[in-house]
Amino acid sequence: MKQQLENIRQLSLEQIAQATTPAEIDDIRVRVLGKKGEVTAILKQMGKLSAEERPVMGALANEVREVVEKAIETKLEEIKKALMENQLVEEELDITLPGNEFEMGKRHPIQLVLDELKEIFLGMGFSVAAGPEVELDKYNFEMLNMPKSHPSRDTQDTFYITENIVLRTQTSPVQVRTMLNEKLPIRIIAPGRVYRADEVDATHSPLFHQIEGLVIDENITMADLKGTLEAFVKNMFGPETKVRFRPHHFAYTEPSAEMDMTCFKCGGKGCRLCKGEGWIEILGSGIVNPVVLESCGIDSTKYSGFAFGMGLERLTMMRYDIDDMRLMYENDMRFLSQF
Ligand code: DAH
Repeated sequence: MKQQLENIRQLSLEQIAQATTPAEIDDIRVRVLGKKGEVTAILKQMGKLSAEERPVMGALANEVREVVEKAIETKLEEIKKALMENQLVEEELDITLPGNEFEMGKRHPIQLVLDELKEIFLGMGFSVAAGPEVELDKYNFEMLNMPKSHPSRDTQDTFYITENIVLRTQTSPVQVRTMLNEKLPIRIIAPGRVYRADEVDATHSPLFHQIEGLVIDENITMADLKGTLEAFVKNMFGPETKVRFRPHHFAYTEPSAEMDMTCFKCGGKGCRLCKGEGWIEILGSGIVNPVVLESCGIDSTKYSGFAFGMGLERLTMMRYDIDDMRLMYENDMRFLSQF
């Protein structure tokens, strides 16, 4: 039995010395010191020994166990340390390597101009309204005094969903929705996407943006329309900017006018941008047709109002001197990062 214990001690120590992984060490621990291990097996045979031999063998067995335990512990420490060193070498960070470049986005110029415009109109007491892009023909045309056969529909090449549902061709239906649903007085702008079956070129796109404006109250006149829109333009393009109104026709306003502003580039002298005119058209407007008021349930003998609508892309192109509308839809950072 003594010899057995000595053998266990020697063999275990040799194996421990050769082990290189924690798993190997664990195997040795189980095999030698475990509940069904070699040392335990010997201790179980102690009963066969004489009373004198027993304590001697017991002491030796304990000694062997302690020595092996200690060797295991020491070796495990060694292996862990080696593994850690290995890992440190393998995973060493090269802090001289350049990092991954992180591209920052930018606000789109259309959004910048819209934010600026909202700020100006909010400052004049307007609030912001919205309506659906898939719209009833009734709101997009009919209630704006453009019945099915009306020739002015021809200027808006419409995408039809069904005969009575269209992609809105203008933000003007928000006027109707607001008059039908909101309390008077009304003072709103309504920015949003609109759709027309147009070919893409430098100034056209089947999807573009408009901003509608509507004011309804008692005693609203053309003077309110002119004052409001002039204040807007001077705020946006500078106090030296002048405006002029030209008579025009829109079915839902009477009288109607288009507004021009002095060319922001040449200040009115005439240049390539304004085609030598000195003026640039920026919006349509007018006094809300009483027919429209009445069909929305508003008493046109008591209330009057003005409305206007403008293209946001056009405004953005002028604000930032952009000469091709397509640039605004390409999401090219070389373009977008300039604003
Ligand atoms: N809806 C018109 C268009 O798309 C623009 C417009 C003109 C809006 C006159 C108005 C207005 O509210 O009064 O061309």
